[in-house]
Amino acid sequence: MKLRITVLPGDGIGPEVTKQAVNVLSAVSEVCGYEFRFEHHRIGGAAIEAEGKPLPERTLAACLEADAVLLGAVGDRKYDHLTGDMRCEAGLLALRQALGGFANLRPVKAYEPIADCSPLREDVIRGADILIVRELLGGLYFGEPRELNAQGYAHNTMRYHRDEVERVSHIAFQEARRRKRKVTSVDKANVLETSQLWRRTVTEVARQYPDVQVEHAYVDSFSMQLVTTPSRYDVVLTENLFGDILSDEAAVISGSLGMLASASVGGKVELYEPVHGSAPDIAGKSMANPFGAIQSAAMLLRYTAGLYHESEKIMQAVDRTLARGLVTPDLTGRRHRPSVSTEAIGQAAVESVTDLLQMQMAYHAV
Ligand code: NAD
Ligand code: IPM
Ligand code: MN
Repeated sequence: MKLRITVLPGDGIGPEVTKQAVNVLSAVSEVCGYEFRFEHHRIGGAAIEAEGKPLPERTLAACLEADAVLLGAVGDRKYDHLTGDMRCEAGLLALRQALGGFANLRPVKAYEPIADCSPLREDVIRGADILIVRELLGGLYFGEPRELNAQGYAHNTMRYHRDEVERVSHIAFQEARRRKRKVTSVDKANVLETSQLWRRTVTEVARQYPDVQVEHAYVDSFSMQLVTTPSRYDVVLTENLFGDILSDEAAVISGSLGMLASASVGGKVELYEPVHGSAPDIAGKSMANPFGAIQSAAMLLRYTAGLYHESEKIMQAVDRTLARGLVTPDLTGRRHRPSVSTEAIGQAAVESVTDLLQMQMAYHAV
């Protein structure tokens, strides 16, 4: 097994968390005898600083040539005054568009050992296990025309074509077949034409998956139900902006935004990134939770490499590390656990995944 992975650490805590994710992948490759080649490139503020733009040609070329891209986060306060294509975030959006992954998978679950870290009651989050499927290349994010002018006027365009809704719906239904066979499609069809098209298209696609239950919900009421009865849901399918907002909201089920991972699939090259941003408030302090990045690495092994077993071992290593009480400061919870550094978490995950894989190999060797 050979994998070429382009690593884009980016800004803020991006480099801190991706380093731990790369260490975990390296541990897997070492134990299993795989060849994972990592090539690091700049994106976001780090790229503006060194190369004058947020997505340099060299970075994009390295991503397009790779088997997968692992990204940390972009966003630097120093460059927040920039507009249009020069924004750090515009670099990430251009990368997403170039790689073509239109379905952004964001798993969210309640972790037993850190259930007290959620502001929600433990009986509310118990058993919650959701996969948010966020449409990633359409809607307000990319709609033209768009404008911000000096006369105090700005506009964006919310647009969707049926084909864009169809392709992401298929991904959601296929994922549901590997889970609890339920899709909740979230829209604002009581007001928006784009949502009426969305609902109509999802309903049509659903006919091809009679074994999967489908329901529709309005985004306002859904955002409330997501945190009152999260265990009701399985796959949640929604458009770009709703998915952005709902996934950060869903993070409270897990206890911290730092826990959430993502995979962008369906395009030329898959992109893996934690859901969180560059977190300038804690950057450079070894306080960042690397589990979102580490679980993104696990998703890479599953979706790009088909290494289901190894991917599962990484997920188990995360559970084990949490069960040992090892957490960063975002997860001290109501039990007031002591916290450890980003590196200590990464090290524990590396040791755990190494142990788990070696145990498995010893078992098979007998
Ligand atoms: P953020 O996700 O960076 O941070 C929100 C809050 O969560 C902060 O208090 C932060 O400390 C905390 N947090 C986030 N990740 C954490 C982690 N791994 N461990 C512990 N705590 C964590 O969102 P923000 O502050 O609104 O945005 C900061 C910058 O990041 C902005 O420039 C924004 O555009 C950018 N951003 C980038 C991405 C991305 O690259 N995918 C995603 C979201 C935001
Ligand atoms: C995310 C982020 C990005 C988004 C930004 C940084 C462009 O918030 O990945 O959730 O809005 O998609
Ligand atoms: Mn977001």
